[in-house]
Amino acid sequence: MWNKVSVAPLRHWHALAQPIRHASGNVRTVTLIPGDGIGPEIAVAVQRIFEAAEAPIAWEAVDVTPVKNPDGTMGIPKAAIDSVNKNQIGLKSPLMTPVGKGFRSLNLQLRKEFSLYANVRPCKSIEGYKTLYDDVDLVTIRENTEGEYSGIEHEIVSGVVQSIKLITENASRRVAEFAFEYAKNNNRSKVTAVHKANIMRMSDGLFLRCCREAAEKHPEVKFEEKYLDTVCLNMVQDPTQYDVLVMPNLYGDIISDLCAGLIGGLGLTPSGNVGTGGAIFEAVHGTAPDIAGHDKANPTALLLSSVMMLRYMDLYDHAQRIETACFEVIREGQTITGDLGGQAKCSEYTDAIIRKLEAGQ
Ligand code: NAI
Repeated sequence: MWNKVSVAPLRHWHALAQPIRHASGNVRTVTLIPGDGIGPEIAVAVQRIFEAAEAPIAWEAVDVTPVKNPDGTMGIPKAAIDSVNKNQIGLKSPLMTPVGKGFRSLNLQLRKEFSLYANVRPCKSIEGYKTLYDDVDLVTIRENTEGEYSGIEHEIVSGVVQSIKLITENASRRVAEFAFEYAKNNNRSKVTAVHKANIMRMSDGLFLRCCREAAEKHPEVKFEEKYLDTVCLNMVQDPTQYDVLVMPNLYGDIISDLCAGLIGGLGLTPSGNVGTGGAIFEAVHGTAPDIAGHDKANPTALLLSSVMMLRYMDLYDHAQRIETACFEVIREGQTITGDLGGQAKCSEYTDAIIRKLEAGQ
Protein backbone atom coordinates (compact mmCIF):
# COMPACT_ATOMS: atom_id res chain seq x y z
CA MET A 1 0.00 0.00 0.00
CA TRP A 2 2.70 2.44 0.99
CA ASN A 3 4.84 1.65 -2.04
CA LYS A 4 1.95 2.03 -4.42
CA VAL A 5 1.07 5.54 -3.40
CA SER A 6 4.25 7.47 -3.35
CA VAL A 7 6.96 5.99 -5.52
CA ALA A 8 5.54 6.33 -9.01
CA PRO A 9 4.92 10.11 -9.07
CA LEU A 10 8.56 10.83 -8.25
CA ARG A 11 9.25 10.79 -11.99
CA HIS A 12 7.30 14.01 -12.58
CA TRP A 13 9.65 16.22 -10.70
CA HIS A 14 12.93 15.39 -12.26
CA ALA A 15 12.21 17.68 -15.19
CA LEU A 16 11.59 20.50 -12.74
CA ALA A 17 14.19 19.50 -10.20
CA GLN A 18 17.01 21.30 -11.96
CA PRO A 19 18.39 24.33 -10.14
CA ILE A 20 16.63 27.51 -11.26
CA ARG A 21 19.44 29.97 -11.80
CA HIS A 22 19.07 33.66 -12.34
CA ALA A 23 21.48 36.49 -12.58
CA SER A 24 21.11 38.00 -9.13
CA GLY A 25 21.41 35.32 -6.52
CA ASN A 26 22.58 32.03 -5.18
CA VAL A 27 20.47 28.99 -5.73
CA ARG A 28 19.37 27.26 -2.50
CA THR A 29 18.40 23.60 -2.43
CA VAL A 30 15.12 22.68 -0.77
CA THR A 31 14.05 19.13 0.06
CA LEU A 32 10.72 18.39 -1.58
CA ILE A 33 8.43 15.70 -0.17
CA PRO A 34 5.77 15.33 -2.88
CA GLY A 35 3.62 13.06 -0.70
CA ASP A 36 0.61 10.98 -1.60
CA GLY A 37 -2.79 11.44 -3.25
CA ILE A 38 -3.06 15.00 -4.61
CA GLY A 39 0.41 15.73 -3.17
CA PRO A 40 2.40 15.30 -6.39
CA GLU A 41 -0.15 17.38 -8.40
CA ILE A 42 0.02 20.37 -6.07
CA ALA A 43 3.81 20.03 -5.75
CA VAL A 44 4.15 20.31 -9.54
CA ALA A 45 1.90 23.40 -9.46
CA VAL A 46 4.24 25.04 -6.92
CA GLN A 47 7.32 24.10 -8.92
CA ARG A 48 5.87 25.59 -12.11
CA ILE A 49 4.96 28.83 -10.31
CA PHE A 50 8.45 29.07 -8.74
CA GLU A 51 10.00 28.58 -12.15
CA ALA A 52 7.85 31.39 -13.61
CA ALA A 53 8.77 33.65 -10.67
CA GLU A 54 12.45 32.78 -11.15
CA ALA A 55 12.71 31.85 -7.49
CA PRO A 56 16.31 30.77 -6.89
CA ILE A 57 15.38 27.33 -5.58
CA ALA A 58 16.61 23.88 -6.60
CA TRP A 59 14.31 21.06 -5.56
CA GLU A 60 15.67 17.83 -4.14
CA ALA A 61 12.77 15.41 -4.27
CA VAL A 62 12.80 12.61 -1.70
CA ASP A 63 10.61 9.61 -1.13
CA VAL A 64 9.57 9.13 2.50
CA THR A 65 7.84 5.79 1.99
CA PRO A 66 8.79 3.93 5.20
CA VAL A 67 11.52 1.30 5.00
CA LYS A 68 12.43 -1.42 7.46
CA ASN A 69 15.17 -0.41 9.89
CA PRO A 70 17.82 -2.94 11.00
CA ASP A 71 15.86 -3.41 14.27
CA GLY A 72 12.74 -4.41 12.33
CA THR A 73 10.81 -1.16 12.92
CA MET A 74 9.54 0.93 10.00
CA GLY A 75 11.04 4.38 9.50
CA ILE A 76 11.81 7.24 7.15
CA PRO A 77 14.50 6.29 4.56
CA LYS A 78 17.99 7.53 5.38
CA ALA A 79 18.28 9.39 2.05
CA ALA A 80 15.28 11.55 2.99
CA ILE A 81 16.66 12.24 6.47
CA ASP A 82 20.08 13.13 5.05
CA SER A 83 18.50 15.49 2.54
CA VAL A 84 16.57 17.47 5.20
CA ASN A 85 19.60 17.52 7.51
CA LYS A 86 21.78 18.85 4.68
CA ASN A 87 19.36 21.45 3.28
CA GLN A 88 17.69 22.32 6.60
CA ILE A 89 14.62 23.40 4.70
CA GLY A 90 11.81 21.40 3.17
CA LEU A 91 8.45 21.69 1.46
CA LYS A 92 6.05 18.85 2.14
CA SER A 93 2.85 17.74 0.45
CA PRO A 94 0.37 15.69 2.49
CA LEU A 95 1.18 12.11 3.43
CA MET A 96 -1.34 9.33 3.86
CA THR A 97 -1.56 7.86 7.36
CA PRO A 98 -2.76 4.25 7.23
CA VAL A 99 -5.25 3.67 10.05
CA GLY A 100 -4.69 0.78 12.45
CA LYS A 101 -1.82 -0.81 10.52
CA GLY A 102 0.80 -0.54 13.24
CA PHE A 103 2.61 2.41 11.61
CA ARG A 104 3.29 5.55 13.53
CA SER A 105 2.13 8.64 11.56
CA LEU A 106 4.89 9.74 9.19
CA ASN A 107 4.00 13.35 9.94
CA LEU A 108 4.70 12.71 13.61
CA GLN A 109 7.94 10.91 12.75
CA LEU A 110 9.12 13.86 10.66
CA ARG A 111 8.38 16.30 13.48
CA LYS A 112 10.28 14.13 15.96
CA GLU A 113 13.18 13.34 13.65
CA PHE A 114 13.91 17.01 12.93
CA SER A 115 12.78 18.47 16.26
CA LEU A 116 10.20 20.65 14.51
CA TYR A 117 8.91 22.06 17.75
CA ALA A 118 6.73 24.97 16.60
CA ASN A 119 3.88 24.65 14.14
CA VAL A 120 3.01 28.07 12.76
CA ARG A 121 -0.25 28.70 10.92
CA PRO A 122 -1.16 32.18 9.76
CA CYS A 123 -4.90 32.60 9.07
CA LYS A 124 -5.71 35.74 7.11
CA SER A 125 -8.96 36.49 5.28
CA ILE A 126 -8.54 36.26 1.52
CA GLU A 127 -10.16 39.03 -0.49
CA GLY A 128 -12.62 37.63 -3.01
CA TYR A 129 -13.34 34.51 -1.04
CA LYS A 130 -16.28 35.36 1.17
CA THR A 131 -16.64 33.70 4.56
CA LEU A 132 -18.61 34.68 7.68
CA TYR A 133 -15.65 36.79 8.81
CA ASP A 134 -13.94 39.50 6.73
CA ASP A 135 -10.89 40.64 8.62
CA VAL A 136 -9.35 37.62 10.28
CA ASP A 137 -5.61 38.03 10.72
CA LEU A 138 -4.18 35.76 13.38
CA VAL A 139 -1.43 33.19 13.80
CA THR A 140 -1.60 29.98 15.81
CA ILE A 141 1.63 28.57 17.23
CA ARG A 142 1.30 25.01 18.37
CA GLU A 143 3.80 23.04 20.42
CA ASN A 144 4.56 20.25 18.01
CA THR A 145 6.51 17.53 19.81
CA GLU A 146 4.77 16.40 22.98
CA GLY A 147 1.50 16.72 24.93
CA GLU A 148 -1.04 14.02 24.06
CA TYR A 149 0.92 13.31 20.86
CA SER A 150 3.88 11.76 22.67
CA GLY A 151 2.62 8.33 21.67
CA ILE A 152 2.78 6.95 25.23
CA GLU A 153 -0.28 4.76 25.63
CA HIS A 154 -0.80 1.49 27.47
CA GLU A 155 -3.42 -0.83 28.81
CA ILE A 156 -3.61 -0.95 32.61
CA VAL A 157 -5.95 -3.93 32.74
CA SER A 158 -8.30 -5.24 30.10
CA GLY A 159 -10.80 -2.47 29.27
CA VAL A 160 -8.77 0.33 30.87
CA VAL A 161 -6.20 2.26 28.82
CA GLN A 162 -4.05 5.22 29.69
CA SER A 163 -2.63 7.90 27.39
CA ILE A 164 0.06 10.14 28.81
CA LYS A 165 0.07 13.89 28.25
CA LEU A 166 3.72 14.82 28.46
CA ILE A 167 4.61 18.46 29.11
CA THR A 168 8.22 19.45 29.67
CA GLU A 169 9.75 22.73 30.72
CA ASN A 170 12.22 22.64 27.81
CA ALA A 171 9.61 22.20 25.09
CA SER A 172 7.19 24.69 26.67
CA ARG A 173 9.89 27.29 27.13
CA ARG A 174 11.22 27.07 23.58
CA VAL A 175 7.78 27.32 21.97
CA ALA A 176 6.77 30.22 24.26
CA GLU A 177 10.00 32.03 23.41
CA PHE A 178 9.41 31.30 19.72
CA ALA A 179 5.90 32.85 19.92
CA PHE A 180 7.23 36.12 21.32
CA GLU A 181 10.12 36.24 18.83
CA TYR A 182 7.66 35.55 16.02
CA ALA A 183 5.37 38.34 17.23
CA LYS A 184 8.25 40.80 17.35
CA ASN A 185 9.68 39.84 13.95
CA ASN A 186 6.29 40.01 12.26
CA ASN A 187 5.03 43.27 13.76
CA ARG A 188 2.42 41.57 15.89
CA SER A 189 1.38 43.18 19.14
CA LYS A 190 -0.12 40.48 21.35
CA VAL A 191 0.50 36.86 22.36
CA THR A 192 -2.31 34.83 23.95
CA ALA A 193 -1.42 31.66 25.86
CA VAL A 194 -4.24 29.12 25.52
CA HIS A 195 -4.53 26.60 28.36
CA LYS A 196 -6.63 24.61 30.85
CA ALA A 197 -4.40 25.14 33.86
CA ASN A 198 -7.50 25.36 36.04
CA ILE A 199 -8.01 21.61 35.43
CA MET A 200 -4.57 20.31 34.48
CA ARG A 201 -2.78 22.29 37.12
CA MET A 202 0.61 20.64 36.76
CA SER A 203 0.94 20.05 33.00
CA ASP A 204 -0.84 23.12 31.61
CA GLY A 205 0.36 24.98 34.70
CA LEU A 206 3.95 24.37 33.63
CA PHE A 207 3.20 25.44 30.07
CA LEU A 208 1.58 28.62 31.32
CA ARG A 209 4.46 29.41 33.66
CA CYS A 210 6.89 29.18 30.73
CA CYS A 211 4.68 31.55 28.71
CA ARG A 212 4.62 34.03 31.61
CA GLU A 213 8.42 33.88 31.88
CA ALA A 214 8.80 34.50 28.13
CA ALA A 215 6.33 37.41 28.41
CA GLU A 216 8.49 39.01 31.09
CA LYS A 217 11.45 38.91 28.74
CA HIS A 218 9.48 40.62 25.96
CA PRO A 219 7.56 43.45 27.63
CA GLU A 220 7.05 45.21 24.27
CA VAL A 221 4.60 42.42 23.27
CA LYS A 222 1.28 42.39 25.10
CA PHE A 223 0.52 39.10 26.85
CA GLU A 224 -2.75 37.54 27.94
CA GLU A 225 -3.84 34.13 29.23
CA LYS A 226 -7.11 32.54 28.13
CA TYR A 227 -8.85 29.25 28.84
CA LEU A 228 -9.22 27.02 25.80
CA ASP A 229 -13.02 26.98 26.04
CA THR A 230 -13.16 30.78 26.28
CA VAL A 231 -10.97 31.05 23.17
CA CYS A 232 -13.33 28.76 21.24
CA LEU A 233 -16.31 30.89 22.26
CA ASN A 234 -14.58 34.19 21.48
CA MET A 235 -13.13 32.94 18.23
CA VAL A 236 -16.48 32.32 16.58
CA GLN A 237 -17.95 35.55 18.02
CA ASP A 238 -15.13 37.90 17.05
CA PRO A 239 -11.82 36.46 15.81
CA THR A 240 -10.32 39.93 15.35
CA GLN A 241 -9.59 40.11 19.09
CA TYR A 242 -6.75 37.61 18.64
CA ASP A 243 -3.30 38.14 17.20
CA VAL A 244 -0.70 35.42 17.98
CA LEU A 245 -1.88 32.39 20.01
CA VAL A 246 0.49 29.87 21.57
CA MET A 247 -0.66 26.55 22.99
CA PRO A 248 0.15 22.92 23.77
CA ASN A 249 -0.06 20.31 21.00
CA LEU A 250 -3.63 18.99 21.16
CA TYR A 251 -5.25 22.40 21.68
CA GLY A 252 -3.17 23.71 18.78
CA ASP A 253 -4.29 20.89 16.51
CA ILE A 254 -7.94 21.72 17.16
CA ILE A 255 -7.80 25.52 17.34
CA SER A 256 -5.67 25.81 14.20
CA ASP A 257 -8.27 23.89 12.17
CA LEU A 258 -11.02 26.04 13.68
CA CYS A 259 -9.09 29.13 12.57
CA ALA A 260 -8.60 27.70 9.07
CA GLY A 261 -12.39 27.42 8.90
CA LEU A 262 -12.72 31.15 9.61
CA ILE A 263 -10.90 32.04 6.37
CA GLY A 264 -12.32 29.39 4.06
CA GLY A 265 -10.94 26.03 4.97
CA LEU A 266 -7.92 23.80 4.82
CA GLY A 267 -7.38 24.27 1.07
CA LEU A 268 -6.27 27.86 1.74
CA THR A 269 -4.25 27.52 4.92
CA PRO A 270 -0.44 27.35 4.90
CA SER A 271 1.80 26.20 7.71
CA GLY A 272 5.40 25.93 8.76
CA ASN A 273 7.06 23.53 11.18
CA VAL A 274 10.07 25.25 12.61
CA GLY A 275 12.73 23.46 14.60
CA THR A 276 16.22 23.54 15.94
CA GLY A 277 17.77 22.09 12.79
CA GLY A 278 15.62 23.75 10.15
CA ALA A 279 12.06 24.03 8.97
CA ILE A 280 9.52 22.11 6.91
CA PHE A 281 6.60 23.95 5.34
CA GLU A 282 3.41 22.11 4.47
CA ALA A 283 -0.21 22.38 3.44
CA VAL A 284 -2.43 21.47 6.37
CA HIS A 285 -4.97 19.45 4.41
CA GLY A 286 -4.70 15.74 3.73
CA THR A 287 -4.13 13.71 0.58
CA ALA A 288 -7.73 14.14 -0.68
CA PRO A 289 -7.92 10.62 -2.12
CA ASP A 290 -11.41 11.35 -3.51
CA ILE A 291 -10.02 13.79 -6.11
CA ALA A 292 -6.43 12.54 -6.48
CA GLY A 293 -5.29 12.16 -10.08
CA HIS A 294 -8.18 14.24 -11.48
CA ASP A 295 -6.39 17.59 -11.75
CA LYS A 296 -9.03 19.06 -9.39
CA ALA A 297 -6.92 19.87 -6.32
CA ASN A 298 -6.46 23.39 -5.05
CA PRO A 299 -2.71 24.00 -4.67
CA THR A 300 -3.15 27.29 -2.74
CA ALA A 301 -2.33 25.93 0.72
CA LEU A 302 0.94 24.39 -0.47
CA LEU A 303 1.72 27.49 -2.53
CA LEU A 304 1.16 29.81 0.45
CA SER A 305 3.28 27.44 2.57
CA SER A 306 6.04 27.83 -0.01
CA VAL A 307 5.58 31.61 0.23
CA MET A 308 6.13 31.32 4.01
CA MET A 309 9.21 29.28 3.21
CA LEU A 310 10.57 31.97 0.87
CA ARG A 311 10.12 34.58 3.62
CA TYR A 312 11.86 32.26 6.10
CA MET A 313 14.74 32.18 3.58
CA ASP A 314 14.68 36.00 3.32
CA LEU A 315 13.47 35.86 -0.30
CA TYR A 316 10.83 38.52 0.37
CA ASP A 317 10.52 39.84 -3.18
CA HIS A 318 9.78 36.44 -4.70
CA ALA A 319 7.39 35.67 -1.85
CA GLN A 320 5.48 38.90 -2.36
CA ARG A 321 5.16 38.50 -6.13
CA ILE A 322 3.88 34.92 -5.89
CA GLU A 323 1.44 35.77 -3.09
CA THR A 324 0.09 38.80 -4.95
CA ALA A 325 -0.40 36.80 -8.18
CA CYS A 326 -2.22 34.05 -6.28
CA PHE A 327 -4.52 36.45 -4.40
CA GLU A 328 -5.32 38.36 -7.61
CA VAL A 329 -6.45 35.17 -9.35
CA ILE A 330 -8.67 34.29 -6.36
CA ARG A 331 -10.06 37.83 -6.13
CA GLU A 332 -10.99 37.87 -9.83
CA GLY A 333 -12.80 34.56 -9.31
CA GLN A 334 -12.63 33.53 -12.99
CA THR A 335 -10.15 30.66 -12.74
CA ILE A 336 -10.58 29.09 -9.32
CA THR A 337 -10.85 25.44 -8.32
CA GLY A 338 -14.01 23.56 -7.35
CA ASP A 339 -13.50 23.78 -3.60
CA LEU A 340 -13.58 27.59 -3.93
CA GLY A 341 -16.77 27.48 -6.02
CA GLY A 342 -15.10 27.59 -9.43
CA GLN A 343 -14.62 25.09 -12.24
CA ALA A 344 -10.92 25.40 -13.05
CA LYS A 345 -8.59 22.48 -12.96
CA CYS A 346 -5.50 22.62 -10.78
CA SER A 347 -3.36 23.11 -13.90
CA GLU A 348 -5.60 25.94 -15.22
CA TYR A 349 -5.47 27.78 -11.88
CA THR A 350 -1.69 27.34 -11.90
CA ASP A 351 -1.53 28.73 -15.48
CA ALA A 352 -3.58 31.77 -14.38
CA ILE A 353 -1.13 32.52 -11.54
CA ILE A 354 1.80 32.14 -13.95
CA ARG A 355 0.15 34.57 -16.41
CA LYS A 356 -0.22 37.11 -13.57
CA LEU A 357 3.44 36.68 -12.66
CA GLU A 358 4.54 37.12 -16.26
CA ALA A 359 2.32 40.17 -16.69
CA GLY A 360 3.83 41.75 -13.57
CA GLN A 361 7.46 41.23 -14.57
P1 NAI B 1 -8.38 15.53 3.44
O1 NAI B 1 -7.92 16.88 3.85
O2 NAI B 1 -7.49 14.75 2.55
O3 NAI B 1 -9.80 15.66 2.68
C1 NAI B 1 -10.97 16.22 3.27
C2 NAI B 1 -11.84 16.83 2.14
O4 NAI B 1 -11.23 18.04 1.69
C3 NAI B 1 -11.96 15.94 0.91
O5 NAI B 1 -13.26 16.08 0.36
C4 NAI B 1 -10.95 16.49 -0.06
O6 NAI B 1 -11.26 16.31 -1.42
C5 NAI B 1 -10.93 17.98 0.30
N1 NAI B 1 -9.62 18.61 0.07
C6 NAI B 1 -8.52 18.51 0.87
N2 NAI B 1 -7.52 19.19 0.34
C7 NAI B 1 -7.95 19.73 -0.79
C8 NAI B 1 -7.36 20.56 -1.80
N3 NAI B 1 -6.09 20.97 -1.73
N4 NAI B 1 -8.11 20.92 -2.87
C9 NAI B 1 -9.39 20.54 -2.96
N5 NAI B 1 -10.02 19.77 -2.06
C10 NAI B 1 -9.30 19.37 -0.98
O7 NAI B 1 -8.70 14.72 4.79
P2 NAI B 1 -8.97 13.16 5.00
O8 NAI B 1 -9.85 12.63 3.90
O9 NAI B 1 -9.45 13.07 6.38
O10 NAI B 1 -7.55 12.45 4.94
C11 NAI B 1 -7.05 11.75 3.80
C12 NAI B 1 -5.64 11.27 4.11
O11 NAI B 1 -4.76 12.37 4.33
C13 NAI B 1 -5.53 10.39 5.36
O12 NAI B 1 -4.64 9.32 5.09
C14 NAI B 1 -4.92 11.31 6.41
O13 NAI B 1 -4.18 10.61 7.36
C15 NAI B 1 -4.02 12.18 5.55
N6 NAI B 1 -3.71 13.49 6.14
C16 NAI B 1 -2.45 13.94 6.02
C17 NAI B 1 -2.11 15.19 6.50
C18 NAI B 1 -0.70 15.65 6.32
O14 NAI B 1 0.10 14.99 5.69
N7 NAI B 1 -0.34 16.81 6.85
C19 NAI B 1 -3.09 16.04 7.20
C20 NAI B 1 -4.43 15.49 7.22
C21 NAI B 1 -4.72 14.25 6.71
